[in-house]
Amino acid sequence: MNLANSFRLDGREIPFQPGQTLMDAALAAGAYIPHLCHNPELAPHGSCRVCVVRVGGRLVSACTAPAAAGLEVASDTPDIQASRRAILQMLFVEGNHICPACEKTGACQLQAVAYYVGMLEPHFTHFFPRRDVDASHPDYVIDFNRCILCELCVRASRDLDGKHVFAISGRGIDSRLVIESPTGKLGDSAFAATDRAAHVCPVGAILPKRGAYSVPIGQRLYDREPISQVGDVAANEGRARS
Ligand code: SF4
Ligand code: FES
Repeated sequence: MNLANSFRLDGREIPFQPGQTLMDAALAAGAYIPHLCHNPELAPHGSCRVCVVRVGGRLVSACTAPAAAGLEVASDTPDIQASRRAILQMLFVEGNHICPACEKTGACQLQAVAYYVGMLEPHFTHFFPRRDVDASHPDYVIDFNRCILCELCVRASRDLDGKHVFAISGRGIDSRLVIESPTGKLGDSAFAATDRAAHVCPVGAILPKRGAYSVPIGQRLYDREPISQVGDVAANEGRARS
């Protein structure tokens, strides 16, 4: 391996191409760095902070930090996993995530990353926000209770579908996903089942109708193998399409 074009991730040599981020290079080398708001098809967003790694004593987002020769990158350390666990605990209590009853259970990145970092309980007090479910579209349901505001659907609709179906409204604790349509309903928007935005949600917020439980619980992607082995569903789907 040409060490002029590689860095070390938890002691493993990772090659990279000029312009790649730490995340791009790690995923290309089959090394897992947990992430939620990242999808290789879309420009990095750097918002969820689940991919944080330590480089030279500084914490950086692996999905935005450029790869450089000779870097020593730490990801799988007890303190970094603990900070990821705290982020996930906040995400779980901020929405209404009812994993045992969710159609996405076993194929949900939020759930799978929580297992990966060893999250066993929510730790913080649940907010129990009142949020809507929008079933107005003929082919898709959107359950705002599960949205983690990763903006993957926003970016996919804008950058891959050229439609601007989704947007984030408000700030801080009042941030929420909104639908760009005359009524604010998905059914009155330009959203279509063939949109890339229909297939990038890392949680059970954007779900197809008439497909529920076609794969039994217990036999789904992350029921069979941990996310550190199989990566994320949406990125896998994107790779299969390309
Ligand atoms: Fe992310 Fe899904 Fe929420 Fe869109 S609906 S912002 S993809 S969690
Ligand atoms: Fe890097 Fe979300 S995956 S900040």
